[in-house]
Amino acid sequence: MEERIREIKARIEEELGKANTSRELFELKAKYVLGKAGIIPGLMKELGKAAKEDRPKLGQIINTLKEWAIEYFARKEKEIGEIEKKIRYKKETVDITMPSKKRERGSLHPVTLVKAELAEVFAGMGFKILETREIEDDFHNFTALNTPLEHPARDKQDTFYINDDFMLRTHTSPGQIHSLTTIEPPFKVLIPGRVYRSDDDATHSPMFHQMEGLVIDKDITMCDLQGMLDEVVKKMFSKEAKTRFRPSFFPFTEPSVEVDVSCFECGGKGCRLCKGTGWIEILGGGIVNRRVLENCKVDPDKYTGFAFGLGLDRIAMLKYGVNNIKVFYENDLRALRQFR
Ligand code: PHE
Repeated sequence: MEERIREIKARIEEELGKANTSRELFELKAKYVLGKAGIIPGLMKELGKAAKEDRPKLGQIINTLKEWAIEYFARKEKEIGEIEKKIRYKKETVDITMPSKKRERGSLHPVTLVKAELAEVFAGMGFKILETREIEDDFHNFTALNTPLEHPARDKQDTFYINDDFMLRTHTSPGQIHSLTTIEPPFKVLIPGRVYRSDDDATHSPMFHQMEGLVIDKDITMCDLQGMLDEVVKKMFSKEAKTRFRPSFFPFTEPSVEVDVSCFECGGKGCRLCKGTGWIEILGGGIVNRRVLENCKVDPDKYTGFAFGLGLDRIAMLKYGVNNIKVFYENDLRALRQFR
């Protein structure tokens, strides 16, 4: 028996010496010390088979072994625990002097910036912002807007037709028809969005952006349009900015105007941007043609209104001094990032 005990001791020392982790230690503890299947508890069971007079002495020897083992495992457990703690601390250390990963900062597209700026000015005046469809039928894009069949805007060269009945809208004005047929007057709406025309050069892109405004109420006159636009250009360009109305023609407004703003580059003295005139054209507008109201079943003797439409890309080009509209659509981040 004593021989076996010496052997067990030696094996524990050897195997425990090789253990490096608390997991290995736990497995060895189960093998030797713990539970009924353990080697040392197994010796206790064998005690029953020994001669009666030998039992006390043997019991004592096994007990001593057991106490030694428990103490030995406890010491080893502490040692391994310390080592594991050190490893963990090392692994979990955060180097706060390390430079962080660079994050790219995005920026809003210049057209988005201009749209947001204008939307904020108009929202402050009580306009509701509305988005209407980009695929339109003839009624909304042309007929209801009093655009006769022979009007050049209907020419296939300008309009992208999808089939005989549908087309990509050529302007945001069909939004006027959607508003007039669905909203009970009086109302003020602002309709920004993409529009499409078969046109492609330095200042035209087949897809571009417009913003439509429509105000319907009783006794609306051209003065209301001018008064409002004066406010808008002061907020959008500068406190000194003025507007100028020139007679024009649109089938859906009568009378119609083209609106200029005093040049925000030279203040009106004349420069390259305004081509020496002191004025820059920014939008088209006018008093809603009574035919349009009739087409939408709104009584033109009861309500009048004004409408205007402006090109967001054009304003963004003027504002940021961009002379080719392609800059906005080539998606070269080096160019687009400049307009923060
Ligand atoms: N829809 C016109 C255009 O695209 C602009 C406009 C809108 C004119 C509203 C008058 C009233 O040129």
